[in-house]
Amino acid sequence: MITLGIEGTAHTLGVGIVDSEEKVLANVLDMYRPPEGGLHPREAANHHADVVTSLILKALDEAQVSMKDIDVVSFSKGPGLGPCLRVAATAARALSVRLRKPIIGVNHCIAHIEIGRAVTGCHDPALLYASGGNTQIIAFNNGRYRIFGETLDVGIGNMFDKLGRELGLGFYAGPTLEKLAKDGDKLLDLPYSVKGMDVSFSGIMTAALALRKKGHSLEDIAYSVQETCFAMLAEVTERAMAHIGKGEVLLGGGVAQNMRLRQMIQDMAEERGAVMYVPDRRLCMDNGAMIAWLGNVMYESGVRMDIADTVVDQRFRTDEVDVTWRD
Ligand code: ATP
Ligand code: FE2
Repeated sequence: MITLGIEGTAHTLGVGIVDSEEKVLANVLDMYRPPEGGLHPREAANHHADVVTSLILKALDEAQVSMKDIDVVSFSKGPGLGPCLRVAATAARALSVRLRKPIIGVNHCIAHIEIGRAVTGCHDPALLYASGGNTQIIAFNNGRYRIFGETLDVGIGNMFDKLGRELGLGFYAGPTLEKLAKDGDKLLDLPYSVKGMDVSFSGIMTAALALRKKGHSLEDIAYSVQETCFAMLAEVTERAMAHIGKGEVLLGGGVAQNMRLRQMIQDMAEERGAVMYVPDRRLCMDNGAMIAWLGNVMYESGVRMDIADTVVDQRFRTDEVDVTWRD
């Protein structure tokens, strides 16, 4: 069975094609980068509408399959930005109707965990999902994927990007901060903000900007921001793993590309006798292959949707989904 999936929750429009044997046949994407300032949902959606057709054709080409080989069409139903979600959903509906093939709308956060399970070989992990818009610890418990901890304000990546912009580092600042942090060595005082199983990041950004005004170097600020934020994530991830008894931790989301985060989670896992897994970069960030894969898994477990069920859901919660494909 071949599934084509379309991702469009935020800046990235992605198209992926997978088969039932966990093989990613194609995974192409195009990311909207705002000329200045933050992400404007309508402009990102216009970008997605501009590129979606050519990306579908590119994915078919890369997978070496034709339209008529597609058995199922899936798309990211949420959570995300309404205008962006609607572009992906509309393209998926058009394909489904045109090809007379079933359509499945999937939860974006669960797609991160399922592609990770498929490609890394882990079985029952706690997922640390750290991206631009999302920061959550998710695990399977009692028939659902449940959120055990999350950010109370902004996603960690959005905080990095906003901080980067204020510091003049340009948009998509995560990788730049990571580079700068390598040359920092002074751990500056920033608010360590863990509340129970939850974290918050906006106070760290305000404090980091104040440190810059006081003349601290970008390197030391980047280093301190990373050390503080990642220690917070390691702490709540560890607590969730202990609480629900998981011996595996899976990383997902764009921030999972950060080597310092990986190292800190790896150290935490090792100390607990647990194992860390990280998918390839292209499968960590927002991508169509994960949407296709979850569509495939859901379809094979018997999930069916009508066009009427394909309305997007900006606040689609991870624990709303009945996980029919796991025991
Ligand atoms: P979502 O819709 O899931 O919230 P997203 O649209 O933010 O995701 P992703 O590709 O998952 O997209 O993540 C992008 C984020 O990851 C950006 O905020 C970026 O700064 C951050 N990022 C990318 N690489 C790194 C890195 N090496 N270190 C830290 N952050 C990074
Ligand atoms: Fe994501």
